Amino acid sequence: MTGSPPNKSLLRTLAGERQSVPPIWLMRQAGRYLPEYRALRAEKGGFLDLVNDPPAATEVTLQPLRRFAFDGAILFSDILMVPNALGQRLWFEAGEGPRLAPELRTRAAIDALEADSAILDPIYATVRGVAASLPPTTTFLGFAGSPWTVATYMIAGKGSREQAEARRLAYADPAAVQTLIDRIADMTVDYLAGQVAAGVEAVQLFDSWSGSLAPVEFERWVVAPTARIVERLRARVNVPVIGFPKGAGGKLAAYARETGVDAIGLDETVDPVWADRELPATMPVQGNLDPLLLIAGGEALDRGVDRVLAAFADRPHIFNLGHGIQQDTPIAHVERLVARVRGR
Ligand code: CP3
Repeated sequence: MTGSPPNKSLLRTLAGERQSVPPIWLMRQAGRYLPEYRALRAEKGGFLDLVNDPPAATEVTLQPLRRFAFDGAILFSDILMVPNALGQRLWFEAGEGPRLAPELRTRAAIDALEADSAILDPIYATVRGVAASLPPTTTFLGFAGSPWTVATYMIAGKGSREQAEARRLAYADPAAVQTLIDRIADMTVDYLAGQVAAGVEAVQLFDSWSGSLAPVEFERWVVAPTARIVERLRARVNVPVIGFPKGAGGKLAAYARETGVDAIGLDETVDPVWADRELPATMPVQGNLDPLLLIAGGEALDRGVDRVLAAFADRPHIFNLGHGIQQDTPIAHVERLVARVRGR
């Protein structure tokens, strides 16, 4: 990457520059652990009402920055907006989670999808709103789900145990799953390029369910589509890409080598000392404090933070959790974490 603004420590880290104080942001940093989020969500009706209301989504994106002055802001939206734009209905069942209909258990169902990319227009409006009001040292991150993770929801119509429906269809009818993966990937490239055009400065690909795949399947459904997205995005825009193949474990090094991502996100099950040894020495890493340790707080939290900082002291590192911050996380613990990382 070239030409990173010198005053944005997260962007500089993504460009391969180690910082003496690593930049910090948290996955799901805008969300239900914040009373101001819960208040706005109650006022607007629900999560999707927030996402589809650009001024509200802009406000939600900015909320955690006011409290914690994070180095990164992440667009407030959801990875399931792409299935919605590909033609599935999307809603959230209270207390349960996302639903997509119709579910895609057959080739015929996949072929019948009718895309409407205008569904993504409010999200670009949010990006423009955030970009116009971001503090000058804060880096603005866009995102999308990776095709495999998105496909697991599209095929099952909801979150699924061990992603069994998608894994079974991938063995039974790989050509149909390839068609679906390609459609997701095509829209994802347009969507990420659109986010960049509207003002994001880096993007993250969330592959939350990459961990459930056998190695050969991991190559086909995670590595190959990710590499294609990175290559095609690079042909259109010049921003760093963070890949987050949650649960990839021993397959992380191959992912880092083969996908072309600029930086790699690590979940909390990865030993940071191992990761530092196995990953390319110049590659920026992001992570990987256990979100449950952040709930516990206290001296155990301090020790956990120090362990992550020490393991990545010699390489470009973006401090983050290993997965999203949870709803019952005390705000005081987030304050303690930020102070510890910044040495205060
Ligand atoms: O990091 C961020 O804050 C950016 C926004 C963002 C959200 N979801 C907001 C959200 C991002 C990047 C996501 C990613 C996402 N969404 C993933 C991949 C990462 C991961 O967490 O594994 C997945 C699998 C989803 C799908 C999804 N969205 C689920 C399963 C749920 C319900 C579970 C839950 O926590 O309630 C959502 C809802 C969702 N997405 C919320 C938020 C803030 C909670 C909405 C609410 O009830 O207010």
